[in-house]
Amino acid sequence: MQKKIADLLSAKGIQFISTIEHHQILSSTNDRVKEIFQTTVSSNSEFALKTLPCLVLADEQTAGRGRGGKLWWSGRGALLFSLGIELSSFSLTRNDLPRLSLATGFAVLQTIRPVLPSEFRVGLHWPNDVYIDDKKICGILIESPKPNLAVIGIGINVNNRFCDIPKDFQSEFENRPITSLIEIVRKKTDALEVLACFVRNFQHHIENCFFSDAWLQEAEASCIQVGRDIRIRQDARWIRGHCLGIAPDASLLVRTESGTETVQSGIVQ
Ligand code: BTN
Repeated sequence: MQKKIADLLSAKGIQFISTIEHHQILSSTNDRVKEIFQTTVSSNSEFALKTLPCLVLADEQTAGRGRGGKLWWSGRGALLFSLGIELSSFSLTRNDLPRLSLATGFAVLQTIRPVLPSEFRVGLHWPNDVYIDDKKICGILIESPKPNLAVIGIGINVNNRFCDIPKDFQSEFENRPITSLIEIVRKKTDALEVLACFVRNFQHHIENCFFSDAWLQEAEASCIQVGRDIRIRQDARWIRGHCLGIAPDASLLVRTESGTETVQSGIVQ
């Protein structure tokens, strides 16, 4: 499978990834990238340059994680992968992570949009989820175990169906509806094609337009919270207000009773 992915990327002229791992089953692709980092970091940076960016893909995860400590539905058919990058290779620092997170969501959105029938609306749900109409199709978990390293974990519901989720886990989604490509297009989609298309879009963002604001305006235009009344949970605090847009540092601008707040993190409901 590793060779198949490498051949597919190279046939499409994508030379972004240095190492590829495919596993039938893993606890979490993010955790596997962190293990790779441990080897990389204990060696010199020349080795890091050869190994990273790395791509770890799994058919199934036994402990897939989402933001806020939530479990991530990781059954067969889902596209589950993580990228490991050295931030300085792209002139980035940890301060750029919020923007990287939004750019990753935007790259997924650009990947999914062409596959969808025109009557479906794909949108960004800040900070980085991708929704089709009001249902989540992709979640992204970015972690930075060392200052110069980032794990970008992505779960896209491609050929997995809600009805396949174990019954005792289905109640998790009562208040946060989810969907998958197969439920929308009603036929299987080649998940490796989706992966290759994402890698191309992601590479384009991180290498060519990360520091320009043009994509940010497009991202803002596709953000489904903009123009809506929203509430954001930050630990025990709730912020309620009208979503005005996305700031250049990728934070959310919210008009509240006490003025405009720049929200850097939180779960939007
Ligand atoms: C979220 O929406 O809360 C983020 C979900 C991220 C899930 C992906 S699946 C691949 C990678 N491995 C993990 O354990 N999590 C991410």
